[in-house]
Amino acid sequence: MPQISSLKKIIITVDGWSSCGKSTMARQLAKKLNYIFIDSGAMYRAITLYFLRNNINVYELHQVQQALKQIHLSFQLNPLNGNNEILLNGENVEPYIREMEVAEKVSEVAAIKEVREFAVHQQQSIGRDKGIVMDGRDIGTAVFPNAELKIFMTADNEVRVMRRHKELLVKNPSIQIDDVRSNLSQRDHMDSNREVSPLRKADDAVVLDNSNLTPDEQLSLALEWAHEKINA
Ligand code: CDP
Repeated sequence: MPQISSLKKIIITVDGWSSCGKSTMARQLAKKLNYIFIDSGAMYRAITLYFLRNNINVYELHQVQQALKQIHLSFQLNPLNGNNEILLNGENVEPYIREMEVAEKVSEVAAIKEVREFAVHQQQSIGRDKGIVMDGRDIGTAVFPNAELKIFMTADNEVRVMRRHKELLVKNPSIQIDDVRSNLSQRDHMDSNREVSPLRKADDAVVLDNSNLTPDEQLSLALEWAHEKINA
């Protein structure tokens, strides 16, 4: 049995619609393979949080460019839960980036060409040494078009709405399912129709529809695909 460290390291991309469980699957997959996990959505959310806090007008290119110069993003391992958490200028902003205020603005911010260039540049440098699982919308198409394994995740619309509602209820008991539904459909529409790197399945991606799969079942499927590529 070869040692993990002696095995070929690959890049695994996980793209797909909002709330279809990409991060859960990508995080577990990375853990099993002893790879780095990067949630690229957290980067767009942290940039959006900075824009909201500093009243950046997204229609003013100069303001956007100046703001990006002030933003430093990094990831830090939380030893309590084993997750890689995002730091915005040194501050751990994980507790704030999942709030509705950010969710309502993030797809608009993520559609800005300069914002994408800023984020994609960092994502590519994090993945330089391979051994990484990254999830997002354009990872298999724009960030790592040569990745060895590309997974495109999808799930039934209402299943996704219910999953995200349940997740948000923990923090905000008054959150309405209709607001969650409209946020997801609005983001999916914007993400797949924007000009720069829209969400789409890469031609060489495998589709994972997890509407009827448990997290364990989807993980074993993905692990099987990963081992095929690592051993190829
Ligand atoms: O968790 P969920 O799937 O709902 O979203 P996320 O992965 O946290 O991403 C939040 C938003 O960031 C998405 O709706 C996209 O607008 C944007 N995003 C993107 O444009 N490109 C990526 N690679 C990742 C996220």
